Amino acid sequence: MNIQFEHNKDLTNLTTFKIGASAKLYAEYKNVEELRAISFSEEFLDNEVFYLGGGSNVLFNGDFNGLVLKSRINGIKKYQKNKETVFAIAGASENWSDFVKWTIDEGLAGLENLSGIPGTVGASPVQNIGAYGVEVGSLIHKVECFDIITKETVTFSAEECKFGYRDSLFKNEGKGRYIVLRVSYKLKNSIIAQNLEYGPLKSLQEKLGRIPSISDVAEEVLKTRDSKLPKPDEIGNAGSFFKNPIVRIYFYKEVMSALYPEIPYYKTEDPLYIKISAGWLIENAGLKGFCIGGAEVYPKQCLVIANKGNATAQDVIEVAEHVKRKVLEKFGITLQPEVNIVDTDIKVTILGSGTSKGIPEVGCFCPVCRSDSQKDKRTRCSALVETKGVKLLIDVSPDFRQQALATEITYLDAALITHSHYDHVGGFDDLRPFCIGTKFPVYLRKDVNEDLHRRLDYCFKDTLYPGVPSFEVHEIDEAPFIIKGVKIIPITVLHGKLPIVGYRIGDFAYVTDAKTIPETEMEKLQNLDVLILNGLRFKDHFAHFTVEEALKTINELKPNRAYLTHFCHEIGKHEDFQSSLPPNVFACYDGLIIHTH
Ligand code: EPU
Repeated sequence: MNIQFEHNKDLTNLTTFKIGASAKLYAEYKNVEELRAISFSEEFLDNEVFYLGGGSNVLFNGDFNGLVLKSRINGIKKYQKNKETVFAIAGASENWSDFVKWTIDEGLAGLENLSGIPGTVGASPVQNIGAYGVEVGSLIHKVECFDIITKETVTFSAEECKFGYRDSLFKNEGKGRYIVLRVSYKLKNSIIAQNLEYGPLKSLQEKLGRIPSISDVAEEVLKTRDSKLPKPDEIGNAGSFFKNPIVRIYFYKEVMSALYPEIPYYKTEDPLYIKISAGWLIENAGLKGFCIGGAEVYPKQCLVIANKGNATAQDVIEVAEHVKRKVLEKFGITLQPEVNIVDTDIKVTILGSGTSKGIPEVGCFCPVCRSDSQKDKRTRCSALVETKGVKLLIDVSPDFRQQALATEITYLDAALITHSHYDHVGGFDDLRPFCIGTKFPVYLRKDVNEDLHRRLDYCFKDTLYPGVPSFEVHEIDEAPFIIKGVKIIPITVLHGKLPIVGYRIGDFAYVTDAKTIPETEMEKLQNLDVLILNGLRFKDHFAHFTVEEALKTINELKPNRAYLTHFCHEIGKHEDFQSSLPPNVFACYDGLIIHTH
C-alpha cells in the first residue's frame, strides 16, 4: 500500500486558531487498512505522532517535529434498532455540525443541543464534547477504534469510554493508543426536543407557545453560539480555552458563594463537587479584552482566547498564563486548559541541585559554603518539567516553598517522586496551594506511598483537619504511564540497595540518587538529548555516583548533553567544577533552565 508522507506540511489552515505551524511529516488515511499500513511505517515508528481531527481544540506551539496524521474516514448511515431507537453511525472525519444537521433532517433527536460545535465526529468522544445541557457521552452507543499496539480494531461501549466532563479514556490511558475510526450514537426516532434544561433553552417553550422541536433547539443554540462565540472562519479560536473548574462543595459554599453569591455554577454527578463558571471568574478578575500581541480574552465570552489576526502561539500561551495567574490570585482557583497544547519541546527548570544538607551546610565555613556566588547556593534536589502545557514537579524537596517562590510556580499538574528520603519529599505539606478545591496528583512507588501514609498520616485520615493537603495517589511500577498526554517512562535505579525511580520524558531523562543502573534500565536511557544525573562528589559514597562514576555512565549512554546534579560542598565552587567537565557535560545550579525535546 502506497502511503504518501508530505514533508514540512503547513498546518495553519488545519486548525481553527489559524496560527502558523508546520509538521515535519504529514499523512492522511481513508480507511483502517491505510492507518494500519502507516502504523508499520518507519515514519510512524521513528517519530512522535499527533492525530489531528478538525483542529478546533488544538494549539501548535511552534512547528511539530514529528508526524501529524489526519483521518479521512467518511460516511454516515443509520440503523433502526426498534420503533423508538435509531443508531446513527458516522466516520471520524465527518464534520460534526453537518452530521448533527443530518440527524435533525432525518428526524433523530438527541444531538440538537450540540449544533454548531466546530470539529469532527472523531473528536466528539475524545473530548466528550458538551454544550447547552448535553454531553455527547450520554448519547454514544459505541466507539470503533484502531489499536496502535495490537494493530486490530476494537470497539468500546460508552461505559468503557470512561466519559467525564470534557474527559474520556481517549484523553488519558488510551491517548495515542486508540484512534477513533467511527462513532455510533443512540438517538430517538422523534422530532421533539429532548433537553431544555440549560439557560436560554429554558424559556423556549414559552417563547414559541408550543413544545419545541429538535430544529427549534438547533436554531436557538446556533443563535446563542453566534451571539457569544467567535466564528472560527472569521476570528481564529479554539472555543473554550479553559475547562470550568470543579471544586469541592465546601469550598464553593464556604468561600465562593459566600463572597460571590452571583457566581454561576452547575451540579456534577458527584454531590461532593460542583462546577463553576470559568468565564465568570475570568471576567470578574478584570480580564475581559486582555491582550498580548495578537491574542485576546474574547470580550463576549471570556473563556475563549481569540486570534485577532496576527497572534503567535506564544501570545496565546502568555495570555493563558496571565489569565491563570490572575484567577488564582483573586479566587484561589487554578484553571486548567481545555485546549490541547501541542509541542515537542520540554523546558526543565532545576529547582534545587544540592544533596540532602544543601549548600551552604549549616555550621560549615568552607570556601564553598561561604561563597558569594548564587550558583554555589544549592537547595535540595528537585526539577520542574514543562511540556505540552503540562507542569510536572520531580520530587518535593524540603526547600520546595522557597523554590516555588523563586521560580514563581503558581500551578502544577502533578508531582513525580523518585523515592521517599526526606530531602526528596520533605516539602509535601507545602503543596497545599495546589490542593485547593481538588486533590493533587502524585506518582510514586508502592513503598514510597506506604512511607508517605506514615509520615503524613494527617493527610489520609477519614476526618481531615480543614486545609490539610489532599493527594490523589497513583502507584507506579515499571510500566510507562501518561499524565495529560505526556508519556512518562519510569527508570528503576539502585540508591545503594534501595530501588528508586528516575523518569524519562521524550528525549529527556532525570535520574538522581543512583549508585547502580541495571542493564535493562540503561537500555531505556538510550538516544537521549538531555540526561540529568547525580554526581555527589569525588570521593566514593555507598549510595551515590561519584563524579567519575557519573561521567562513566554518561560516556556509555552518550546523550547529546548531560547535566550533573545532587552535589555536596566537596564538589567545590561551581565555576571551577564546571571548567573541569567535558564539553557536553554541565553542572546544574539552582534556577538553571534547560530546553530539550
Ligand atoms: N459568563 C460570564 N462571563 C463570561 C462568560 C460566561 O460571566 O465571559 C457566565 C455567563 O453569564 C453564564 C455562565 O458564565 O452565566 C456560563 O456561560 P456559558 O453559558 O457561555 O457557558 P460556559 O460554561 O462558559 C460551557 C462550555 C461551552 C459551551 C457552553 C454552553 C466548557 C469549557 N465550555 O461554557 O463549550 O458552548 O457551556 O453550553 O465547558 C467549548 O467547549 O469549546 C465550548 C464553547
